Amino acid sequence: MEISLLQSEATEIEVDVLVINLFEGVKSPGGATGAVDKVIGGLITELIVSGEISGSEGELTLIHTANSAYPDLRASRVLVAGLGPSDCINTNVIRRVSAAVIRKLRAVGAKRVATIVHGAGIGGVDVSSCAQSLVEGSMLGAYRFLKYRTTDTKRKPDVESMIIVEIDSSKLIAIDAAIKKGVTYSNAEILARDLVNEPANKLSPADLASVAQKVAHDNGLDCEVLEEADVSALGMGAYTGVAQGSSRPLKFIHMSYRGDSSDSENNLWLVGKGITFDSGGISLKPGLGMGKMKGDMGGGASVIAAMQAISQLKPKLNVHVVCAATDNMPGGTAQRPGDVVTAMNGMTIEVDNTDAEGRLTLADAIGYALSKQATRIVDVATLTGAARVALGDGVSPVFGNDDELISAVLKSSEVVGEPMWRLPLDSVTKRQNSSRVADMKNTGGRGGGSTTAAHFISDFAGETPWVHIDIAATSMLDSMRGWLPAGATGVPTRSLIDLALRLGT
Ligand code: BES
Ligand code: MN
Ligand code: ZN
Repeated sequence: MEISLLQSEATEIEVDVLVINLFEGVKSPGGATGAVDKVIGGLITELIVSGEISGSEGELTLIHTANSAYPDLRASRVLVAGLGPSDCINTNVIRRVSAAVIRKLRAVGAKRVATIVHGAGIGGVDVSSCAQSLVEGSMLGAYRFLKYRTTDTKRKPDVESMIIVEIDSSKLIAIDAAIKKGVTYSNAEILARDLVNEPANKLSPADLASVAQKVAHDNGLDCEVLEEADVSALGMGAYTGVAQGSSRPLKFIHMSYRGDSSDSENNLWLVGKGITFDSGGISLKPGLGMGKMKGDMGGGASVIAAMQAISQLKPKLNVHVVCAATDNMPGGTAQRPGDVVTAMNGMTIEVDNTDAEGRLTLADAIGYALSKQATRIVDVATLTGAARVALGDGVSPVFGNDDELISAVLKSSEVVGEPMWRLPLDSVTKRQNSSRVADMKNTGGRGGGSTTAAHFISDFAGETPWVHIDIAATSMLDSMRGWLPAGATGVPTRSLIDLALRLGT
């Protein structure tokens, strides 16, 4: 979808559908909605009086406005989008409404559409945030993963172009910048979704590495891909232990963006779990729902995708992306429960359950980051089913050892509308990782499954400021919600982009 900005009166723009809005409870609309109402003879006011339009959030009313009947309006149809109460407006409302609008526009076959910027007037949200959220809601709400649907002929084509109209010249520069930012954020999140939705037979560790290399090449980044022999030489026994049961070779991906070459300590390492398929290994998962484990590289997808946007938005800090990609398979050479492996930092791990593989790969990915003088680490992982038990699929649990970095992550998550909540790393649950035969084991028993996994990783992060985001429940949804589709959500790509900009200004 082409998105552009035009300085114009809303009534004067010639499109298939013109989108305007209404706050709940407003009886006589002002602004662009009022201007449209006037040229169509007060029809909107009439529909408000009759009760058909209330302005409640997500309410969509399509009005046919043939030019022959309404010569002062150039659009063939008008869509009135309800924004809910004006004192409840925020960027999440704008994203949600914009997502509902774009799907409605597609459903009615609109090709060329125009919209005003929702929420900026009496709502009081700053115009930049409104415009960015409008773009994000529209692009992310329109997302579909259709590349393997070859026989579906009844499918409605996407909206081709969206013109954002604004008459106030003093707002144009801010809106234009916000549109570009919204497009950059959304394209990154869409890349993450595509990677997670891609089936495992189409996305091997090597394929994921190729994507990272392409993103790097297209955006002037460095990208190094280490092979099995390289990571073995570095002593990554926890990672290679996971990979050894698969016939598809592992790929260790390291991308770098240099935004502050004068200060190498000003860095951020984004570490993503990159299990391209998680069968569980010898601790084989049950069959029901195992196909979802094609998405077990959701953390890796989000960090690679975030890097695409970061390289385009150019914050003043050095950002590194690490993804220790591999399948977790039960081949004849697979590791066994009870095996002891040695991680890159020398610590030994009893592999109590081969299905707790994510933390093993993260241990060595973080060990690698620390060996390269990482000063801040954020890892993102589809790590534990227990994350869903703890917080459901709307909120990602966050753990960490540094209040400042955690606050920055939580602030970014709030700004972009990807909810996260901090959980504690208490000393009681930490003991559950104790092993009789090694320094620790990779499972923590019954309670606090997300916490014991986080404790395990924290042992490898040590004292370096580190945050862990568990996206096991939020990375994929069973059904659509707001601007999130069923299937891959791309979460928390936009949080990571925002974080890099927050730390690098
Ligand atoms: N990839 C899974 C976690 C997961 C579960 C992600 C559901 C998305 C949806 C992870 O590797 C795993 O298997 N975790 C185990 C850990 C257990 C064996 C300690 C789990 O959560 O059951
Ligand atoms: Mn697993
Ligand atoms: Zn896994």
